[in-house]
Amino acid sequence: MQITCVGVVGCGLMGSGIAEVVARAGSDVVVVEADEVAAKAGLARIEKSVDTAVARGKLDAATGERVLGQLRVVSDFDALADRQLVIEAVPEVEQLKVATFKRLDDVVEHGDAVLASNTSSIPIMKLAMATRRPEHVLGLHFFNPVPVLPLVELVTSLLTGSDAAARAVSFAEDSLGKCVIRSQDRAGFIVNALLIPYLLSAIRMLESGFASAGDIDTGMVQGCAHPMGPLALTDLIGLDTTMAVAESLYTEFKEPLYAPPPMLSRMVDAGLLGRKTGRGFFDYVR
Ligand code: CAA
Repeated sequence: MQITCVGVVGCGLMGSGIAEVVARAGSDVVVVEADEVAAKAGLARIEKSVDTAVARGKLDAATGERVLGQLRVVSDFDALADRQLVIEAVPEVEQLKVATFKRLDDVVEHGDAVLASNTSSIPIMKLAMATRRPEHVLGLHFFNPVPVLPLVELVTSLLTGSDAAARAVSFAEDSLGKCVIRSQDRAGFIVNALLIPYLLSAIRMLESGFASAGDIDTGMVQGCAHPMGPLALTDLIGLDTTMAVAESLYTEFKEPLYAPPPMLSRMVDAGLLGRKTGRGFFDYVR
């Protein structure tokens, strides 16, 4: 059975991006976001991204107009009852994600519905065990900016059924046109297990006075052809999210390379979270 009715929980940076690509692919999308300000900001982000895609010739104007019509942002969880796939994209806080999966288990009526998490690092098994249907729970991890980056990580737990995994892969590849890689259920999966130590190393380099933020980033852009430097990338991901992922990795592996440096903790405490707050390692006009 083809997935055409999709739910997204959370309309932040990742939730709004996921909702946008799902609507662009022609599916009907319900986004649940309890915070009115976040819902408004998420919708504005989607509108802006669709306009950019049309202006850059990545999307035809008719599809662009259709996207917003296929997408509803609501505050009521019950609107997810008839969904065939729900993708959770709430902040990277374990208790919040576990509570969301408990709620999804109660609300989603479709017996075969796939319950997916966009978590970057929290074990899928912890989310699966919050439900009475662990065979339908898996990770579908998208990358920011979601409409631009083609990758999705599929993460199956020891209890994920092969049918749910096959349906999720078919949806991500055939409907969304994404490139799927598979990872076992280990904190950080493939990409963040490699990326986060690199970002933390750049922060430690800055913290120790080894080089300036601008030179660290220029080094990786001009010397290694990365599209952006590690500090600008941390600003894009969000310092709070980077720290949460680092903490999950450190909890899982106890390796010093995953331990968040003090500079990162202090900046998170100060609310210097990167692009979303206008200031991180660099300043941004909002
Ligand atoms: N829809 C579709 N396409 C769009 C678009 C949109 N809304 N906005 C831009 N694009 C396209 C552009 O047309 C352009 O395409 P071409 O290359 O074919 O011309 C391309 O995207 C790049 O766009 P821009 O020219 O506007 O921007 P840029 O060249 O400055 O690139 C960037 C910006 C895409 C963010 C790039 O710097 C980049 O890829 N950076 C790295 C991002 C990254 O590593 N993300 C992963 C973070 S980790 C994560 O997300 C997971 C986690 O768990 C923490």
